[in-house]
Amino acid sequence: MSEDLNRRDAMGMALGACAAVGGVFALAGMKKAWDPLPSVKAAGTTTVDLSAAEENVLYTEKWRGKPVFIIRKNAEMIKMSGANDLAREIDVAGSKYVMFVALCTHLGCIPAYNNAPKDFFCACHGAVYDVAGINVSGPAPLPMLVPPFRIDGTTMVIGEESEAYKKMVADGFDGSKPLAHDA
Ligand code: FES
Repeated sequence: MSEDLNRRDAMGMALGACAAVGGVFALAGMKKAWDPLPSVKAAGTTTVDLSAAEENVLYTEKWRGKPVFIIRKNAEMIKMSGANDLAREIDVAGSKYVMFVALCTHLGCIPAYNNAPKDFFCACHGAVYDVAGINVSGPAPLPMLVPPFRIDGTTMVIGEESEAYKKMVADGFDGSKPLAHDA
């Protein structure tokens, strides 16, 4: 009887230890997803090191007091992008990114990213945006705004204008004009 109890105690402890180790690994994985990318803020610019950015993970930076979303697109996201989405892509060392000020163009709430359908939902009044930040449905009148940016290797400087940014503005893809969701 007592031998039986001892065996059960030992099995219980072993199972408990396994659960604890599993929990630590799960927390470590979650923390990794929460960790911000290394960034530096100076004189109206935010410099973000994208060398460790993972695909389809939402990174939130701060630029001039505003939240900015950055996502490195995976192959599926590139494939599902329409022409207008592609025109808002930013090339960083061969990888494709989306980056924009994370404020809903209806009344300024911060939309949430859903990485399974790969879209953004604003819970305030129900606006939906595609992965490039183009408004798809609901009351938002414009895409979310792409701020000035410059790319230097795997570094993104938010707040500095580059030729790529100027072209995006000149062609009307920065979010200052309405865009059709064509994906
Ligand atoms: Fe986003 Fe109204 S503020 S839908």
